[in-house]
Amino acid sequence: MKILVCGGAGYIGSHTVKELLDKGYEVVVVDSLETGHKKAVDERAVLCIGNISDGTFLENVFAKHNIDAVIDFAAYSLVGESVKEPAKYFENNVGGTLSLLSKMREHNVKYIVFSSTAATYGEPENIPILETDKTLPTNPYGESKLCVEKILRWFDEAYGVKYSVLRYFNAAGADPDGEIGESHTPETHLIPLILDAASGKRESICIFGTDYPTEDGTCIRDYIHVTDLADAHIRALEYLKQGGESTCFNLGNGNGDSVRHVIEVVKQVTGKEFIVKEEKRRAGDPPMLIGSATKAEKVLGWRPQYAEIGTIVEHAWKWHEKKMY
Ligand code: UFG
Repeated sequence: MKILVCGGAGYIGSHTVKELLDKGYEVVVVDSLETGHKKAVDERAVLCIGNISDGTFLENVFAKHNIDAVIDFAAYSLVGESVKEPAKYFENNVGGTLSLLSKMREHNVKYIVFSSTAATYGEPENIPILETDKTLPTNPYGESKLCVEKILRWFDEAYGVKYSVLRYFNAAGADPDGEIGESHTPETHLIPLILDAASGKRESICIFGTDYPTEDGTCIRDYIHVTDLADAHIRALEYLKQGGESTCFNLGNGNGDSVRHVIEVVKQVTGKEFIVKEEKRRAGDPPMLIGSATKAEKVLGWRPQYAEIGTIVEHAWKWHEKKMY
């Protein structure tokens, strides 16, 4: 079976490509390489460089390859930037996927696994968050993903395009073999920034807010290993191919770690000491985000293999030490 992976040179995309290939799928990657990395794409995959908003480019890809299903990761994903430049986010994240969906219709491709986010929920009403909870994004990034979720619903109704929407909590860690990992420019995510401090690439790590209503005053997040996310994409794809109904799934471990705790874990795993500063809160950060992935477990049989934060940090550190891109 041939799978088109849009955004397959990005962080979660590249890990999913590797898993797909290991499981015997044929993979065509489409990536503009604006934020993705050529080196992150497994050599066994076919790489087509271009933007999914470009209809002519996409037409060539679909015409050349007999695509059975699509996994779509291609999007901008910086929450802060999205607040400053909403147009960029809606044009790219919504416009790009709409262009992809049109091409899927033209070529009669009926299955899509779509990369969504916990940011679709906004400030959660309940912890752990369920898929049925209210969605009220507090930033354009989350809103752009929710827009696509809504588009997918109507494309299913009218055109029979079956979708699995995957709402990730905090993607973290790296390929256990150390071949691929996280590399963003600029980097804004907690774990790679702490690792930068541990390796001396940064002078310190700042905790954004120590007065949250949590046990140690810092934000709590549900960190989920990127390889576990990759595995969930393949299960979601197989679920659709077996006739599963279109639906959405939370992907998290169902438990949370505070910023202070993650810093302590990095110190233990790396054996390094570094300066920890305390700053005021970062705008828009909810105190606690923890997802219930009971539905993914029940329906997809998905159980994270690397649920421990220590393992997640260990794999991220292994990658960080020899980071190749
Ligand atoms: N944090 C710090 N210092 C830093 C960086 C982050 O204290 O230097 C804190 C943040 O305030 C937050 C936690 O660490 O409390 C995690 O922050 P990240 O930036 O790593 O991740 P977010 O939880 O903000 O965002 C992640 C994804 C987004 C997604 C969001 C939805 O990166 O794409 O989850 O839950 F939208």
